[in-house]
Amino acid sequence: MADISVNICGLQFSNPVLPAAGPPVWNGEAMKACAEGGAGGIVSKTVSVRPAVVPTPNMAQIPGGFLNTELWSELPVEQFIEREYPIAKETGLPLIISIGYTAEEIAELAPKVRPFADALELSTHYIGDDPTPMMEAIRAAKEAVDVPVFVKLSPFRDMKTAARAAKEAGADAIVAVNSFGPCLGVDIETGRLLMGSKEGYGWLSGPALKPLALRCVFDVARSVDLPIIGVGGISKGTDAIEFFMVGASAVGVCTAAILKGPSIFGKIARGIEKWLDDHGYSSIEEIRGLAIRNWEQREYRTTHVPPELDVDACIGCGLCEASCVYDAIHVIDEKAVLTPEKCYGCGLCVTRCPTRALSIT
Ligand SMILES: Cc1cc2nc3c(=O)[nH]c(=O)nc-3n(C[C@H](O)[C@H](O)[C@H](O)COP(=O)(O)O)c2cc1C
Repeated sequence: MADISVNICGLQFSNPVLPAAGPPVWNGEAMKACAEGGAGGIVSKTVSVRPAVVPTPNMAQIPGGFLNTELWSELPVEQFIEREYPIAKETGLPLIISIGYTAEEIAELAPKVRPFADALELSTHYIGDDPTPMMEAIRAAKEAVDVPVFVKLSPFRDMKTAARAAKEAGADAIVAVNSFGPCLGVDIETGRLLMGSKEGYGWLSGPALKPLALRCVFDVARSVDLPIIGVGGISKGTDAIEFFMVGASAVGVCTAAILKGPSIFGKIARGIEKWLDDHGYSSIEEIRGLAIRNWEQREYRTTHVPPELDVDACIGCGLCEASCVYDAIHVIDEKAVLTPEKCYGCGLCVTRCPTRALSIT
């Protein structure tokens, strides 16, 4: 069976699936439930110097995704120190404590939470586009504590610049990404916006965020040689595999844990293990960065190369034909038949074929 344990900055995780800061880790009992559900470590809800005053409603499921307008924790940091972190520590798992936001706030918070922290995670969600406040926050954390400092990036910034700046300021690992936005959702039956925030805006997470999060991790991995925790739209083992292939060492999960409960962590971990076993890999390290290496060696093409067709694997379902706008593929006698002269090599049929009978080399 594949070994899915990971070591990040000296912290040993029995598996690479962690909660991402948010409602599933909002208090001690919730963090404990994540551990019981199979998480390999704990990341706590972001706290700041003042409890957040959060508008309502602040969470909504939307097709393909999720909107929220939560801020940081509504609980004071003192409560986390007295009650929530000690409960989380009972799990015996590494505890990554999320704090925010400015250098002054980090300097105040970091020493207070240090007794419980195996690492700190700094949220940069509300400190602007310029990397300087983030760098100052990292330096403040590094000065205040002796545990690793992880920095969580938001996907609406330039990832390469942010990652390089984070490294320069002394960050030990990057968490990518936070939710995307601002976005908007409308309930057409009431004619009201879904979110109760002042502007009506919300932040996107869940499956719709995954391609953006993958691109961000890919950019970070190509910019700095720091460990990366990939976050965004992960709800199954194969989602996590994609993140490993673009350079992540571990993954974080928030929306799927809200919607499906804490047992999702163990399910994703088992999914990772199974995928590695089925594909003959013995560890995550063997596939980490694989898609980057393949991309580096790829041939950049603009010619119309048709896909290859494995006729035996074709089940004649017709999905390829239905979406071939170039009229280059038809199902005849229950098998796909390609007309190469008509094919533009777009690749869409390859991604729709349920049996991988079509492929592009
Ligand atoms: C309701 C909600 C609250 C969140 N609160 C925080 C937070 O306090 N701190 C933080 O860094 N990220 C927060 N996030 C962002 C998540 O940790 C995560 O980065 C993002 O949702 C993408 O992952 P997902 O698609 O698995 O949810 C929150 C997300 C949601 C949905």
